Order: sequence, then C-alpha cells, then structure tokens
Amino acid sequence: MIIEKIEEKLQNVLESCGYELPAKIIPSNRKDLCDYQFDGSFSYAKVLHKSPIEISESIVEMWGSIYKDDPDFKKIEAVKPGFINFTLSDKFINETLNKMNEEPKFGIKMPKKETIVIDYGGPNIAKPLHVGHLRSAIVGESIKRILEYFDYNVISDVHLGDYGLQIGQVIYGLKQENIVLEDITIEILDRIYPEMSALCKSDEKIKEECAQITKELQDGNQEYQEYFEKIKEVSLKDIKRIYDYLDVHFDYWFGEADSYKYIPKLTEELENKKLLKLSEGAKIIDVKKDTDELEIPPLIYQKQNGAYLYGTTDLATIYQRMNDYHPNKILYVTDLRQALHFKQVFRVCEKLGYTKETSFEHLGFGTVNGSDGKPYKTRAGSAPKLDTLFKETKEAFLASNPKNDAMDESDLDILVNAIIKFADLQNNREKDYIFDINKFSTVIGKTGPYILYTYLRINSILEKEQYIITCLDNQIYNETDRELRIKLLELENTLKYSLDTRLPSVLANYLYEICVNMNAFYEKNHINNLEDRNKKENWLLLLTLANKILKEMLELLSIKIPKKM
Ligand code: ARG
Repeated sequence: MIIEKIEEKLQNVLESCGYELPAKIIPSNRKDLCDYQFDGSFSYAKVLHKSPIEISESIVEMWGSIYKDDPDFKKIEAVKPGFINFTLSDKFINETLNKMNEEPKFGIKMPKKETIVIDYGGPNIAKPLHVGHLRSAIVGESIKRILEYFDYNVISDVHLGDYGLQIGQVIYGLKQENIVLEDITIEILDRIYPEMSALCKSDEKIKEECAQITKELQDGNQEYQEYFEKIKEVSLKDIKRIYDYLDVHFDYWFGEADSYKYIPKLTEELENKKLLKLSEGAKIIDVKKDTDELEIPPLIYQKQNGAYLYGTTDLATIYQRMNDYHPNKILYVTDLRQALHFKQVFRVCEKLGYTKETSFEHLGFGTVNGSDGKPYKTRAGSAPKLDTLFKETKEAFLASNPKNDAMDESDLDILVNAIIKFADLQNNREKDYIFDINKFSTVIGKTGPYILYTYLRINSILEKEQYIITCLDNQIYNETDRELRIKLLELENTLKYSLDTRLPSVLANYLYEICVNMNAFYEKNHINNLEDRNKKENWLLLLTLANKILKEMLELLSIKIPKKM
C-alpha cells in the first residue's frame, strides 16, 4: 500500500525526467536516516554518463515541482553517493494506520480470485509420521492459510502415499505372523514396518515377493484389498490425530490408490498424443529438452511387470484435479529432493497441453537436521516420531522455566505447536535447519515463546487500561514509537511478498521484528504511569493495532495464543 503509493509517484517523476528506470523503492535498513530508499540512480549512472548523486538530485527536484509540499512526506532528499531517502510525514503514517485499524484485513488489497490446489502433508500409510513429515505439514498449512487470507479459492489435498512398496511389505509381514485383520493395531504397524523395511534391504527375494504383493493389490487382489483397507483405517486414524494436534486440516484425503481409476483415461490421452514409448518392456515418457543443461531422464509410466509408479499416480491425480476443479494453479509442498520427479511430471503436463490452463509449482523444502548437520535422528539412529518430538518439546519448555508448570495442558500444547512451528517457519523453506529444542523453547530470541510472550504482555496492559479514542491523532512521540508505527505499515507489502514467493518465513520474520519493536516501545515508554491522557490513549490504540496484527498473522502460521504463560 505505502510502497506502491510512493512508487506510483516516483514512476511519474522518473517519466517526467525522461529516465527509463524501474520505480522501485525499498524499506530503509537505517531507520534513523529515513523510512524508504531509492537506489536506482547507481545503475543508471553509466547509461547517462552522470554521477548517481546528480541523477538523484534531478529526481528530487522534479518531485518537488510535481508534488509541491507533498503532505505524505516529511523529507525527500538526495544523499551522497546517490541514494534518495524518503521520510514519511507523521500525518501520513497515522492516517494509514487508522485505515488499517478500521478496515477488515487491515485494508489489504486482494488479488484476482483464482482456484488453487495445494498438495501437502503426503503421509504414507503404514509408516509412522516422523520428523521428515513435519515441514510439509507446517509449511504447507501456512502457505494454504496465506492463500486463503487473500481470498483465493483454495482446495487442499493430503495425497496419501498408500499404494507404494511399503504396503506390500507390511502385508507380507502381517501374513508371516498370522495376524488377522481384526487384530491389526497402530502398535503392530509401527513395529512391522521398520522390521520389514530392514529385512527387504538385506533379502532380495523377500523384497521381490513384497513388490509382487503391492502389484497384485494394485490389480485388485481381494485378500490384499482387505488388508489394505484395514491398514489404511488404522493408520489414518493415527495420522489424523497428529494433524489435529498440529491444527493442520485438509479438504480431501485422497490417496495414490484413488487415482487408479483415472489411469485408463489418462493412458488413452497419452497414447492419442503418442507420448508413450516402449523401453525394455516398460512404458516411458520422454521429457528432456534440447535446452537442458542436465539430462532429465524419462518418466517411467508403467514397469515391465505392469506396475504403476509414483509418477503415474501423480499424473492420474492431476487428471482428476484438472477435470474436477479446473484450477489455475497446483502447488506441491514436498522435500526438495523430489525436484526432479516434479520436473518430469510437469513436463508431461506441458506435453499434454495442461499447462495452458494451469500452472504447476513445486515448493521444495530443506531438511530438518541434528547438530551434526545430518538429518535429525534419535539416539537409536532412526528419525524421531512426531509424538516423541512433541513430548520432548514439552519437556524442554517446562525445564526452561519452572513457572510454566502452572500452565494448563491445552496451553502447553499450544506452546509446543508454537515452538515447533515458529522454529520451522522462520527459516526460508528451501534451507535446511538444525533442530535444537532447547534454543527453540526459550522466551528469549527469535522463538515462538518470545512472540507469544510479547503478545500476552501487551494484552495484559490493554486489559487493564480503558481508552475511548478510535483514531490516532497526528503525533508521533519518540523514536521507538515511530519505529513501531513504521513497522506496522510494512504489513501489506510483507504479506504480499510472502504470498508471491510462497515463503511463510517472510511473514514469520516480520512478526519477530514487530515484537522487537513492541518490546522496545514498552520498555522505553512507561505507559501504565503516564499522566498525559492523550498520549496514553494514542499509545493504547497503537498497541491494540499491533496486537491485532500479531494475532491475525499468527493464525496464518497456524500458531494459537495461550491464555497465559
Ligand atoms: N508420500 C510422498 C512422500 O512421502 C509425498 C507425496 C507428495 N505429493 C505428491 N503429489 N507427490 O514422499
């Protein structure tokens, strides 16, 4: 809102100067000098054979003649070596904050409505949810909520991994132990999967046999279908319990198995377009392009034994989504290591002509690592189950502050969520990060507890004090006050950027910055004992707005606020 408004004027000024320069301004990182900066003169200096400062001076001069005594600015000046510094007027800052306060969703402009499918979560039936599944759930949920905030028509689908090799292995294991359907429990599944997975790694024959079971299941074998249904039921119940704990929700719980009914139609389409090729008995689709720097292998559509693969079910699922929802976009939130897979799948979509109607994005994320920089493992050497992670996080939080013992269970669960989610979401999703429960659980630093503590601290003042004003007046009282107000103005731009880049980390870091400003403000300005009534009311209103922003934005990170901590 603010930046756009300034950029619009700048555009006008640049055109009047005859400069072909992008009117791009950035928030200043020296808030003591100015609020926003323009640094375009540097790149243009060579073109014009002039010094950057000369160019900037001419822009400022033109600005002055077009927008005489512009009430939006306190100061616009060209400074050496060639920046233009913009300082907003108090009036403009306060008027904008008042608008944010009055309007729903802080007056943020909404983009045009589109339908977007988001595919995240991706848990696998029969395997316990572990730390490797955390990011897809947390990052995906946040991206979904940001899209929904901007009024997109969002359709979320968990895309269960239910027809993969693991299912054949587990069925084999169950049969080996003569476990009948009624006796299958989550404990049994949790035990059998790792055992079978290890066995298949050491015994090629058993591995083959398990693959055969998966294949026959896919072909409709009655007995295996019954096992599959039961395993899915038991497994899903547990998966849903964990997603509920994480406050992660899906519109659809479709799985790979559900996509099988679309395979015949899809195959027909691929055959009509002559895209399927035979290679050593398997059906493959070539996806490489002449412009590729690295060779992209073909997508394997159907194996020699007739079995379908991960790429096939993804394509069949796209077929269903295209037909049922006609989405403008389909987004996939998975581990970055699946980048090649999605590249292949999207290229097939291009060949099928789907990309004319729909665009596809793979939103990859990095790994959760241990202190050794390798994927996070328990002492026993396996990826920790999410249940274990929640329990350890709760213990670490309680240990960090004995007072927390007094918190009720539901508040503690909110804290566990906040700790894990904020730790994850503050990292750029494409980067790996080190899981350090002790660091994440303290109230000091860039942590979930710090954000929640700030909110509650301010909230307790607001609950005690009364105020009647509904609009901020035209004053700003001191530096920390100004910094907080300017920070709140950045909301729309920040959120928009977070939306466009699909990076919840942009929003998470912004919330942290707001909290830093709020705490600095609170420590400097002793609002409780303030005699000046007008000032006090203005500050209470400002803090109310700050807390309202925090609360509404925390929801987009799927972080709730405890009653107390
Ligand atoms: N189940 C997959 C896995 O564990 C993730 C599924 C992601 N979504 C998709 N449409 N392929 O790796």
